[in-house]
Amino acid sequence: MREEEEISAAIDRVLLGEDAIAERVGKMAGEISAAYANVEYGDDGLVLIGVLKGAFVFLADLARRLTVPHHVDFIALSSYNRGETKGEVRLIMDSRISVADRHVLIVEDIVDTGYTLDYLRRTFTAREPASLRSCVFLSKPERRRIDVPIDYLGFEIPDVWVVGYGLDYGDRYRTLPYIGALKQEVYES
Ligand code: PRP
Repeated sequence: MREEEEISAAIDRVLLGEDAIAERVGKMAGEISAAYANVEYGDDGLVLIGVLKGAFVFLADLARRLTVPHHVDFIALSSYNRGETKGEVRLIMDSRISVADRHVLIVEDIVDTGYTLDYLRRTFTAREPASLRSCVFLSKPERRRIDVPIDYLGFEIPDVWVVGYGLDYGDRYRTLPYIGALKQEVYES
């Protein structure tokens, strides 16, 4: 099958289209720009920490719509035992910038059980930033195992497997420009 046909065979429906995403991301960027309006560029400035891989698309769109100066950095994590209660998170690649005394904004594509964001909050709190907040594109509240604060949220979605806009299934579909629900038969086969 051609890539295009394979994609349309795998996607059940579009949950969030390109226009809805762009509108919401623009609003989030406006809120964040207002919140950090007095923060200047430099050693005590704003640092966006994108969580790889999933957040790279959201971060790119969000960061380009911010009207306040900021650094961009990344951290890569992987979670063990997905779907089980353990929720261990493994650090694959740490961020490079020193976040001490800086305003840190964690940028995530999705919060599911909450273990990853909780791990990130503990990790960055220990590094003594001036402030620590999180900005998350999608949240699945039904899946939460641990209560974790989200300061800026794009959308709440139901408990379905979503792909696109950075999110994957077996590393596929990340660069679809919309958020699509995967057909159940795809992830259950
Ligand atoms: C996804 C997502 C979050 C995490 C959320 O990453 O990007 O980091 O899962 O899940 P949680 O709330 O249950 O911890 P994933 O491990 O799929 O890696 P990827 O971003 O590289 O695809």
